[in-house]
Amino acid sequence: MYPFQITSFEQYKETYQESINHPEKFWAAVAENFQWRKKWDNVLNWNFKEPKVEWFSGAKLNITENCIDRHLATMGDKPAIIWEPNNPDERTRTVTYNRLHKRVCQFAQVLKNNGVKKGDRVCIYMGMIPELAYAILGCARIGAIHSVIFGGFSAQSIADRLFDAQAEYIVTCDGAYRGGKDIPLKSVIDDALIGNRTVKKVIVYTRTRTPVSMLKGRDLWWEDEMEYAETQIEKEGVVSFPAEEMDAEDPLFILYTSGSTGKPKGVVHTCAGYMVWTTYTFVNVFQYKPGDLFFCTADIGWITGHSYIVYGPLSAGGTSVMFEGIPTYPDAGRFWDIIDKYKVNILYTAPTAIRSLMGFGLEPLKGKDLSSLKILGTVGEPINEEAWHWYDENIGKKKCPVVDTWWQTETGGILISNLAGITPSKPSWATLPMPGVQLVIVDENGKEVREKDDTGFLKGNLCIKAPWPAIIRTTYGDHDRCRKNYFETYPNLYFTGDGALKDDIGNYRITGRVDDVLNVSGHRIGTAEVENAINMHAGVVESAVVGYPHDLKGQGIYAFVIDNNRHGDEDLTRKDILQTVTRIIGPIAKPDKIQFVKGLPKTRSGKIMRRILRKIAEGDLNNLGDITTLLDPGVVEEIKKGKL
Ligand code: WT7
Repeated sequence: MYPFQITSFEQYKETYQESINHPEKFWAAVAENFQWRKKWDNVLNWNFKEPKVEWFSGAKLNITENCIDRHLATMGDKPAIIWEPNNPDERTRTVTYNRLHKRVCQFAQVLKNNGVKKGDRVCIYMGMIPELAYAILGCARIGAIHSVIFGGFSAQSIADRLFDAQAEYIVTCDGAYRGGKDIPLKSVIDDALIGNRTVKKVIVYTRTRTPVSMLKGRDLWWEDEMEYAETQIEKEGVVSFPAEEMDAEDPLFILYTSGSTGKPKGVVHTCAGYMVWTTYTFVNVFQYKPGDLFFCTADIGWITGHSYIVYGPLSAGGTSVMFEGIPTYPDAGRFWDIIDKYKVNILYTAPTAIRSLMGFGLEPLKGKDLSSLKILGTVGEPINEEAWHWYDENIGKKKCPVVDTWWQTETGGILISNLAGITPSKPSWATLPMPGVQLVIVDENGKEVREKDDTGFLKGNLCIKAPWPAIIRTTYGDHDRCRKNYFETYPNLYFTGDGALKDDIGNYRITGRVDDVLNVSGHRIGTAEVENAINMHAGVVESAVVGYPHDLKGQGIYAFVIDNNRHGDEDLTRKDILQTVTRIIGPIAKPDKIQFVKGLPKTRSGKIMRRILRKIAEGDLNNLGDITTLLDPGVVEEIKKGKL
């Protein structure tokens, strides 16, 4: 009735209309393309007031049967994951669907042996190695809720997340390789566990052979556990573990992300809707064809890696390239080497990576055969036209459609993007919504914007009118927080936190966050979180953090700090503060600039006027707007003089 893959612009328009006019019929038809233990009673129940959203309720399934088992009969020997190590001289690994099935089953048994049950929270803190995928899918196989934490987060950040999720199990590595660095993951976990009362077991995979301290009764080696599990579940050479039957709306995972408050939120996604959405968008946006080799350069510690390295591509029966390292190690030609080596067909990366590689010029591209590429994608932040064209011309040789995909941790998968080669692209515009996605641009008061501004576009805050299958269901442990964050600002709408423009054709351009959330190199960081971390430093009296345009990172972090000037050495204090932020959050949250000030611009009621600080950080010194309402307008002059 509806083809799973849209193959023309006409068909996109029809499909989109159909998905809006008859959403239940439409998504039921899409869902027919998956393997269910039992089909749904209801396609969709929802209200945005509580909020409550249920897709395919009554259905039973296990996502790993869709990502693995259903492919075994026809493509057991096909690579599911091709792994490229940090060090190009190390042996690469190819994980076929058969092998993936075996390892995931073994790991599911390991979890079971250690007392993990359906609904338990398992925190995963590993580098980019195939075992990370086994751990994720092993959890999903037994119905445990995984919560992956990016390897760049500090012990304190992990401790907060473990507590929030009330996690009882951790899967980690001795260490991780990233570029020239070895990151001592297990030792960070040990620090995070000081004072922890919930974690019972820590499973440790050996990657770097860095010395670790293994605590008796708590810490176990992955290798030993896997070996034993295999002996338990092997029958006549076949290893298998029955997948837990999950309800459509059972939680699949928690992923923490920053908001405008000081505390990251645990975004919860559920089994069926997330599976349908990530698969559908993967196949349509990237126009995936059987046999295509897909390389998403994200880290699995972020949502992009969850949806488009693990779940989406595997459910579609695709092959994912998984890369352990970084784009500039051992040199800035690394991505191009990988594309050449494996003959990658689809490349999905971030504007930050493109801008940073652009900075190395064309030299690193010499001698690299990129002719296997068919489609290019970007995600995570607005892409500037210069980077878009560089990507199109030098990587795609003007022969590969570029898809600019807009989405969020909370949306589970891509919501706005062109479909590669099917719907038109427009440099620096994410373009059109996916089927089922009903966008609206509203003003401050939540009224739909209908008048164009002087640039000829509709302009305002981006909201969504109705649920799509992978919409956030709750924030873990605090449903009201979910309501307040996303559904309260504008009643009956999901508020994205982004500003957007819309053109006459219906294309959308995302202009960036309109709340106190920064997007630094495609990573979300709350200004309040950074302020809290800075304020932990003994010499700091108060601080205010804002973003400013940064050539490479998109946004940089600018901190205005009042310190007690104890040792009179600004540079030393600066370094101390950076240490503190690294310790409290992680290196990704380190301010690029720290300006010491005597006072901050505050209203008479004591609120910091960030608007003014943002202008100063942007260098727009003569355009500060009305400052007469400030308690002490004098501080502004002082701050302007000291601008970095
Ligand atoms: C925020 C979500 C989506 C996975 C990675 C980031 C920004 C994301 C785009 C894009 C302009 C984008 C938005 C959004 N963003 N993609 N194509 N164009 N901005 O996920 O950490 O949840 O961040 O990233 O501001 O709200 P995230």
